[in-house]
Amino acid sequence: MITVAEAFKKFRSRLELSDREQDDASRRHNEIRDFLKTMFDVENDFLTGSYKRWTKTKPLKDVDIFCVLGQKERHRRDKPPGDLLKAFEDALVEKYGRDKVSRQRRSVTVDFGVTTNEDEDTGGKVMSFDVVPAFTKNNHYEIPDTSTTSGWTETNPQVHHDLAVEAQKKYDGEWKGIVRMTKKWNANQGKPVKPSFLIEVMALELLHPPFGGDYRFEIKAFLASLADRLDETWADPARLGPPVSDAMDQVARDAAKIKLRQGSDAAAKAIQLERQGKNGEALRVWRTEVFGPMFPLS
Ligand SMILES: Nc1ncnc2c1ncn2[C@@H]1O[C@H](COP(=O)(O)OP(=O)(O)OP(=O)(O)O)[C@@H](O)[C@H]1O
Ligand SMILES: [Mg+2]
Repeated sequence: MITVAEAFKKFRSRLELSDREQDDASRRHNEIRDFLKTMFDVENDFLTGSYKRWTKTKPLKDVDIFCVLGQKERHRRDKPPGDLLKAFEDALVEKYGRDKVSRQRRSVTVDFGVTTNEDEDTGGKVMSFDVVPAFTKNNHYEIPDTSTTSGWTETNPQVHHDLAVEAQKKYDGEWKGIVRMTKKWNANQGKPVKPSFLIEVMALELLHPPFGGDYRFEIKAFLASLADRLDETWADPARLGPPVSDAMDQVARDAAKIKLRQGSDAAAKAIQLERQGKNGEALRVWRTEVFGPMFPLS
């Protein structure tokens, strides 16, 4: 049987992007890019979001692709954001089929119908992409946002990227790993914290460097401080978009706080079991009560 420390090491590396996944993401990106270029005036496009920052959890889904529109599409900025999303949705339906495409608040999702095995492994495949139409604005972007009154959200992915790089450096290279693990906790609980980007934004403030050296305690403490600070308003770190915490109402926040505290308590229980020499039981608590099937037992 492996030790809990070894299990965390294995878990950490399971949440890293593999070469096969990056190849698949790149192949799919090219395919979507080539197709969209036949339908729209696309000036530039790139993979972004948590995928680009290495803060995405596994299995790999909703990889963000920004599709920056050129002059010929500018007229769409003067119409409702839903119209632009609908145009992208219709185009992508043509290529991928009705059942694979759905519209979100700021993007259009293309789901490739990839399945996972019992360990939540996709065999190196990306499950879905979020295609985000964007317009340039000064040195950043403007994207449709059907949940805001203006209908558009300004965003600067480069600032988000730089902040994550800086945090990672200050945290001895372990900050992104903790964000990925905590997002895995969130996914395993049915996503009580929405959006999962909020976990990353809160981590910028709540994870105090240096890294304490032990994932067990880092996770236990981080889940507890997420619960303690979830009622606050969390601004876009680039100070451009709406608060990242705007997607949960009080009911959702209260439910998420309960889950977060349960997660932290389960971590405390697992740590206690390990201290008592009950290694197998400790591993099972981390797997069944915290992270789910990607946390290894052997
Ligand atoms: N409120 C916001 N204001 C400005 N930019 C935002 C806001 N919310 C998200 N973004 C930007 O859009 C990107 C994509 O959003 P998304 O919700 O997919 O988050 P993510 O970081 O990619 O997390 P996930 O792992 O859940 O995909 C974010 O990474 C961030 O750069
Ligand atoms: Mg994303």
